[in-house]
Amino acid sequence: MSSEFRLSIHGQWSGRLAFFLAATGSAVGLGNIWKFPYITGENGGGAFVIVYLICIAIIGVPIMMAEIMLGRRGRLSPINTMALLTSEDNRHKIWRAIGWMGAIAGLIILSYYSVIAGWAMAYVVRMASGVFLASTTDGVNGIFTALTADPERLLAWHTIFMLLTTMIVARGVQHGLERAVRYLMPLLFVMLLILVGYATSTGAFLQGVNYLFSADFSKLSTESVVVAMGHAFFTLSLGMGAIMAYGAYLPKDVSIAKTSFAIAAADTLVALLAGMAIFPIVFANALEPAAGPGLIFQTLPIAFGQMDAGTLFGTVFFVLLVFAALTSAISLIEPMVAWLVENKNVTRIQAAVYMGLAAWVLGIGSILSFNVWSNVTWSIPGLFKDLTIFDTLDGLTANIMLPLGGLFIAIFAGHLMAEHKVKDEIQTHPTLYKVWFYLIRYVTPLLVIIVFLNLIKLI
Ligand code: PFF
Repeated sequence: MSSEFRLSIHGQWSGRLAFFLAATGSAVGLGNIWKFPYITGENGGGAFVIVYLICIAIIGVPIMMAEIMLGRRGRLSPINTMALLTSEDNRHKIWRAIGWMGAIAGLIILSYYSVIAGWAMAYVVRMASGVFLASTTDGVNGIFTALTADPERLLAWHTIFMLLTTMIVARGVQHGLERAVRYLMPLLFVMLLILVGYATSTGAFLQGVNYLFSADFSKLSTESVVVAMGHAFFTLSLGMGAIMAYGAYLPKDVSIAKTSFAIAAADTLVALLAGMAIFPIVFANALEPAAGPGLIFQTLPIAFGQMDAGTLFGTVFFVLLVFAALTSAISLIEPMVAWLVENKNVTRIQAAVYMGLAAWVLGIGSILSFNVWSNVTWSIPGLFKDLTIFDTLDGLTANIMLPLGGLFIAIFAGHLMAEHKVKDEIQTHPTLYKVWFYLIRYVTPLLVIIVFLNLIKLI
C-alpha cells in the first residue's frame, strides 16, 4: 500500500467548513456542558480550570494537529491508518496498538455517554411538561433522583439514544450531520448565552465567575491534574482516533493548523460559557458545586423554572444538548465501524448495528451503577474512593486510555514518521510549524509522562 493521495473509501468532507463542523460536532458535547462543570466543582474550581486550559493549549491542540495529519496521510480507519503508516516507515507493529486501544476506548466511552445522553432526553420531556415551573431546589433534586433510581427508564432512554446513533452512523457520517451541526450548534451557543444572561440576574454571578477563574493552586491535588489533563483529551475527542478518522475524509488543501485552533477555541468557549451559566445558579441556591454527575440536571431546571418562557427555553436547550451528544457519539464508533467495513466484508449498516449493540450492552453496567449496583464500588487508598462501574469506565478511558493514546500519537508523529511527510501534511507558516514540531516532539509527550508518573507515585 502507498500513501499517495487518494480518497478514503468512506467518502470525503465537502470542504473545510464541513470538516470544521463535523470535528466541532465531535468535540462539543456532553463533555463541555455536563462533564466540565461537574468535574470543575469536584476539583475546587479556578486552579483546575487553569490547568485544563493549559492542557488544551499545549497538549490538546498539538495532538489534534497530529491526529488530523495522521488520518489524512493514511486515509483509512485509524487501525488501518496506523498499520499503513507503521509499515511505510518500517516501524514496529506494536505502534498499531494506537488504533486498537483507541477504538476500544471509543466503544467504552460511548456505552456510558449514551446513558447520560439518555438523561438529557428524559429532561426534554420533563422540561416540556412544565414540571419545573417555580419548583424548589428540593423538587428539582427529587426529579433527578427519581430518574436515576429507575433502571428501566434509564434503559429505555439509553436504548433510544443508541438507536439514533446507530442509524446516523449507518447512513454515513456526512449526511444529515453537516446540517445538524451547522444550524444546531450556533443555536446551542445562543441558548448558553441566554443562560449566562440569566445567571447575571441571580445575584451570585460574580461569585460563580470567581469560583471558575480565581486560582488557588494550594488546593490542587495530583488527582485533579490527572483529571484536568484527561478532560482536555476527552473534550477535544483526542487520543482515540475519532479525529483521526475524520481527518481521513479531509480534502488535501485544508489547513490543519488553522482548523485545529478554531475547533479548540469553539470547544473551550462552550465549556466556559456552561461554567459561567451553572456556578452562579449553584451559589445563588446554596447548592453543592461538588454534587457530581447530576450537577447540570439539578441546577439548570431551577433557572428554567424561574425565567420567562423557561419551559420553551428549557425544552429547546435539552433538545440541543441531545443533538450535541449525538454528533459526538457518532464519532465515538466511527473508527470501529470504518475498520469493520475495511476488513470484515460487512456493510456499513451491519458494522454500525454490531457496534451499536456492543455499546448498548456495555451501557447497562453504567445504568445499574446509578441504582441497583450503586454499592458495587472499589477504592485505591489515597487516590480513588468508592468508584462505581460508571466512575471506573469514565476514569479508565478519559484519564488513562485517551492520554496514553495521545502520548503514542505524539511520539509517532514527532519521532517515528519521516519528517518530510509530516511537513508535507501540516503545511503551515514555517515558524508555526517549528513551534508545533517542537511541542509534539518534546513538550507534549513529556508533560503527559510527568502527569502519569505522578499518578503512579500516588498508587
Ligand atoms: N468530545 C466529546 C464531548 O466533549 O462530549 C466526547 C468525545 C467524543 C470523546 C469523541 C472522545 C471522542 F473520541
